[in-house]
Amino acid sequence: MTAKRIKELTPEEAASMIKDQDVIGFSGFTPAGACKIVPKAIAAKAKEEHAAGRPFKVGVVTGASTGPSLDGSLAEANAVLFRTPYQSDPNLRKQINSGETRFFDMHLSLLPQYVRYGFLGGFNWAIVEAADVNDKGEITLSTSVGASPTFCQVADKIIVELNEYHPTDLRGFHDIYMPDSPPNRREVPIYKATDRIGAEVVRVDPSKIVGFVRNNQPDEVGAFKPSDPITQKIGENTANFLASEIKRGTVPPEFLPIQSGVGNIANAVLGAMGANKDIPDFMLYSEVIQDSVVDLMDIGRCTFASGTSLTVTKDVMDKIYDNLKDYSRKILLRPQEISNNPEIVRRIGIISINTALELDIFGNVNSTHVLGKNMMNGIGGSGDFTRNAYISIFTCPSVAKKGMISAIVPNCSHMDHSEHSVQVVITEQGVADLRGKDPIERARLICENCAHPDYKDTLRGYFEEVADGHTPASLSNAFAMHQKFLETGDMRGVEWKF
Ligand code: COA
Repeated sequence: MTAKRIKELTPEEAASMIKDQDVIGFSGFTPAGACKIVPKAIAAKAKEEHAAGRPFKVGVVTGASTGPSLDGSLAEANAVLFRTPYQSDPNLRKQINSGETRFFDMHLSLLPQYVRYGFLGGFNWAIVEAADVNDKGEITLSTSVGASPTFCQVADKIIVELNEYHPTDLRGFHDIYMPDSPPNRREVPIYKATDRIGAEVVRVDPSKIVGFVRNNQPDEVGAFKPSDPITQKIGENTANFLASEIKRGTVPPEFLPIQSGVGNIANAVLGAMGANKDIPDFMLYSEVIQDSVVDLMDIGRCTFASGTSLTVTKDVMDKIYDNLKDYSRKILLRPQEISNNPEIVRRIGIISINTALELDIFGNVNSTHVLGKNMMNGIGGSGDFTRNAYISIFTCPSVAKKGMISAIVPNCSHMDHSEHSVQVVITEQGVADLRGKDPIERARLICENCAHPDYKDTLRGYFEEVADGHTPASLSNAFAMHQKFLETGDMRGVEWKF
C-alpha cells in the first residue's frame, strides 16, 4: 500500500456513505477483481434500513458478472434497484425473472461508452478493488479491468477496496486505454494481440478518493466441472474443424487469435485445441482468461493471452503470483471496451467460440433466454465477437435436461445472434458449416450433423414437409416443440399440424 494521505475506512464507514437510490459502478468482471467487503457491508446496511421500515436500493453496474459477495449479498438483501450489463447469480436471476429487479442486457464492449456518454445517467460512486493505490491517484487494479477505468472517470466519488492478497507488483499487468468520444475518436492502435497501447494504472483525481478499505480475500472463482464425454466431444469436434480449416487454406498456417467463451464447454474446447497436433501454438484475444488457458501456457501451447479478466481458481492464482514476472510477459488485461472491441476483432481476425442455449435450424442463436422469457445470464461479449469474427462458432450439447429439451428447434424462442453472424454450429453430434449456404441447406446441415437422433425426424418433418418459403416457416408450428415441453416436460414426439 503506497498511499499515505488517503483515509482508511472500515467497511461499515464506507457503507454508511451510500444512500438509497445511489448508482454504483463496481469493479468486477466475473468474480475476478470484484469488490467483496464493501458490497457485503452495503447489503448489511440495506437489511438494517429495511428492518427500520426505510427503503434502500442501489443501482448496480459492473463489468460483467461478479461473485457471491457482490451480486449474491446485495440480491439476498433485496438491495438491487437495477442491474446491468450481465449477471449470473441464482438469487438475482430469480428477482430479475420475477420482475422485482430491473435488468438490461448489454453487449459488454458498449457498457463503458454508454456510461461515458451519459446514457445511463450519473454515477454517484465507483467502488473498485485494487492491488495498490497511491497519493497521486494511481490505482493498480487487481485481476480484472472491465469497466473500472470508466467508472472511476465518471463517478462523483471513489472508494478503493485495497486487496492485499494481490501483490503491488501487479502494476504492469494491465493496459489501460480509453478511446476518445466521437466525433474525435481515432482507430484503436492494436494490430496484434500482444500490443500495449495504454497506461499501467488508472489515473484519477486523488481528491475524488474518499478512502480505502482493506481486504485480503482471493477471488471467489469456483472450480470447473471436469469435462464429460459430451463436452469432450464438442471440444474435439471444434479442434478438428479448425485443423481442417488450416489444412484447406482458409485459415492462415500461423493461425489466428482465439476468443473463447466462459464455462465448462469453453474449457473443454481449449483443452482439445491444445491436444490437437494439427493446431499450431496459439494466442488468445478474448474476454476471460480461465484456468485452461494458464494450463496451456505452461505446456507452451498458448503463447499469449489478452483479456479483461483473469478468472482463475486460487491454486492457479497462487502459481501465477509465485512466477509473476514470467506470466506478466504472457498475460495482459485490458478494459472490456478494448478486449471486446469490434474494430480489433475484425482487424486481427479473431476466431470466436461461444456457447448457445438454443439455436434454430437456420442458424439463429439464443444465448440468453430460457423458453424465450427467463433470463439466464446475458449476452455478455458473445455479440461483440460473433458479429465481427473471422470465423464465428457456436457450440452446445444437442440436448439439455436429460434429453427432454432439444437445443435445436425450428425457431429460436429468443434471438441474440442472427443467421447473418453465425457461421459454424458444433454439437457433440458433429459440425454444420453454414458459410455460403441458403436457409434450406443450413436446415439440412444443422439437422443431419448437429441435432440429437431423438429429434432428427421431427425437425426434418418441419422444414421438409410442413413449412414453406425461402426460409421455410410455419407460424402455427414454429414453437410447437417449446409448447410441448411446457405442457408435458418433454419436447420429444411433436406432431406437426398441417
Ligand atoms: N432450454 C432450457 N434450458 C437450457 C437449454 C435450453 N435450450 N440449454 C441449456 N439449458 C440449461 C442447462 O440445463 C443448464 O441448467 P442447469 O444449470 O439447471 O443444469 C443451464 O442451462 C446452463 O447450461 P450449461 O450446459 O451448463 O451451459 P454453460 O454453463 O456453458 O452456459 C450459457 C451456457 C449459454 C448460459 C452461457 O454460456 C452464457 O451465459 N452465454 C452468454 C454469454 C457469453 O457467451 N459469454 C461469453 C462471451 S466472451
